[in-house]
Amino acid sequence: MSRTRQLIDRLARERVLSAGEFAELLRSRGPGDAEHLRALASEARDRVFGKSVFLRGLLEFSNYCRNDCLYCGIRRSNRRAERYRLSPEEILETCAQGHALGFRTFVLQSGEDPRYTPETMAGIIAEIKASFPDTALTLSLGEHPAGAYALWRKAGADRYLLRHETRNRDHYAELHPPTMTIESRVRCLHALRELGYQVGCGFMVGSPGQTPERLAEDLLFIHELSPHMVGIGPFIPHKDTPLASAAPGSVDETLFLLGILRLMDPKLLLPATTALGTLDGTGREKGVLAGANVIMPILTPSEVRAKYLLYDNKICTGDASSACRMCVQHRMESIGHVVDTVRGDHPDLGPPPPPALSAPPPPAAPALQ
Ligand code: SAM
Ligand code: FES
Repeated sequence: MSRTRQLIDRLARERVLSAGEFAELLRSRGPGDAEHLRALASEARDRVFGKSVFLRGLLEFSNYCRNDCLYCGIRRSNRRAERYRLSPEEILETCAQGHALGFRTFVLQSGEDPRYTPETMAGIIAEIKASFPDTALTLSLGEHPAGAYALWRKAGADRYLLRHETRNRDHYAELHPPTMTIESRVRCLHALRELGYQVGCGFMVGSPGQTPERLAEDLLFIHELSPHMVGIGPFIPHKDTPLASAAPGSVDETLFLLGILRLMDPKLLLPATTALGTLDGTGREKGVLAGANVIMPILTPSEVRAKYLLYDNKICTGDASSACRMCVQHRMESIGHVVDTVRGDHPDLGPPPPPALSAPPPPAAPALQ
């Protein structure tokens, strides 16, 4: 048996490899190895989740951002980005539409937009949870003080996605302005965990400067943190960023890494991302076949969707939410999977509490300043 096959088989048994072995596996993977990994990873996923794929409705409610990540199309310095933000009422209305479409998890995502104060966000969260008590709420709002995370958790937020982007300090500095550090990001992830969030980290595949050795650091960091979710997708350049001329990440490498992550943790919530579907017309299907078990169709209102452009040629920007919902369902059925609209918590957390029979009246969300 080839050395790479041996490494894959050992990963399936022991859930982790050394940094050198991870790097070797990534460097020397061939098509036969990818197929072997895919088979083991989808078997591992099926044992925990069967053929169910959890749906999350993604609501991109503001593309204002105080940060300036070099790869990101909505970075502060991109003067060509057309900015928008949704009011608390518009966010609630979009969740109502999502709920009617069957979504039982909402992901609220935005740039780091100071206009939504911690208190405003807490009001929005409390209103969503009071209006839709059978849903889980995931936040993806970037780095904030632990006090804000605590306030949002208390208001009812269940999960938080904060990709660490890269665990290597030099690589992090190559992709971000000097005001941002990996230490601060890791502190945030630990704070979120301690507050009882289901936590997700992750990284882009093929970001400029990424190497198998640096990816090995990411994998070992994930092993240590043991998050509930990991979001990975290929890097895709955006024309109005400093990385406009960089090459995009590889679909095959992303699929290989999805397989590795699945073997590292069979219970992981692992999305097949929009970025994967952007680089390859059937990328999300391939992602699920490689071991993913979550899809996040876009719920953002169609009038502003095309403005949340993190990278060029993003898919689904011209579609209605109902169309995306059905499209994803058909895509999953075409590969023998079924979409599951339950909350889809991490398996270790047990069934969710039954929804309250009569929800308490929601506290009014403070208006945006
Ligand atoms: N502001 C929040 C944050 O920083 O976590 C959420 C929004 S941020 C745009 C969400 C993720 O998009 C980032 O963590 C990054 O990995 C990904 N992203 C940004 N630009 C990208 C690009 N050019 N290609 C692929 N993914 C990208
Ligand atoms: Fe803030 Fe991308 S730089 S969301």
